[in-house]
Amino acid sequence: MFDSDSLARALAGLRFGRPLHFFPQIGSTNDEAKRLADSGAPEGTLVVADEQTTGRGRAARRWITPRGAALALSLILRPDIAAAHAPRLTMLAGLAGCEAIEQVAGAHTQLKWPNDVLIGGKKTGGILVEAALEGERLKYAVVGIGINVSCTPPPAEVDFPATSLEAESGRAVDRVTLLRTLLGHIEEHYTELSENGLFREWRARLTLMDAPVVVRAPEGELRGQPVDVDPDGALRLRLESGEVRRVLAGDMRLRPAS
Ligand code: BTN
Repeated sequence: MFDSDSLARALAGLRFGRPLHFFPQIGSTNDEAKRLADSGAPEGTLVVADEQTTGRGRAARRWITPRGAALALSLILRPDIAAAHAPRLTMLAGLAGCEAIEQVAGAHTQLKWPNDVLIGGKKTGGILVEAALEGERLKYAVVGIGINVSCTPPPAEVDFPATSLEAESGRAVDRVTLLRTLLGHIEEHYTELSENGLFREWRARLTLMDAPVVVRAPEGELRGQPVDVDPDGALRLRLESGEVRRVLAGDMRLRPAS
């Protein structure tokens, strides 16, 4: 069962996941979590929905969460860190997402910079971290995670090949177990937010390094080859001119053969 009572029972004993706000249907769990955080909701507050009608992805894309077929959650965190370290929360969520999927679905995962969770080169999960700042410090972060469990969005709705856990693993995946496992891994890595190990583990999972890619960045479309990432989450992209450019935000895809 995917309802408030079953979720509350399954999450008992965890550090995060309380208070729990469950919605059979909602616009976007991130919007609700931001509203709660702005009204003072404590760290660990979790918003979970069975269905989202206006789910959001990065770069103002739509994120589809059909009823009963996906995991859509937003977790409020209030770590005492500098605003400049906010990308570590994205690393944390990506890493925890990979570990939870591998544990529950038994499928090998990789991350595509900055933080798409891939199985077999196709996207199965996405992360949208939205941070509020207070001067130079982080006030709160809403960590939004969406995982396709038994649904694959139609090709017209996505700009990267997509898949689902069940399609890739060939087994049924219980969303409650997946949620509990995911929160457990988030908790485990939360204590490492200020350590380099978190960055190293995130970096080790990145795919498409050295591949010919196109990165859609705020400064425009960049063509090149990723050579590495920096501890602040920036991608180091070798442009066709040979210059290595640091890219702080954007979306990356393989460059089609010409
Ligand atoms: C991306 O890959 O572009 C990020 C997708 C993030 C989707 C999740 S689903 C739960 C939370 N609520 C939202 O509206 N978005 C995030």
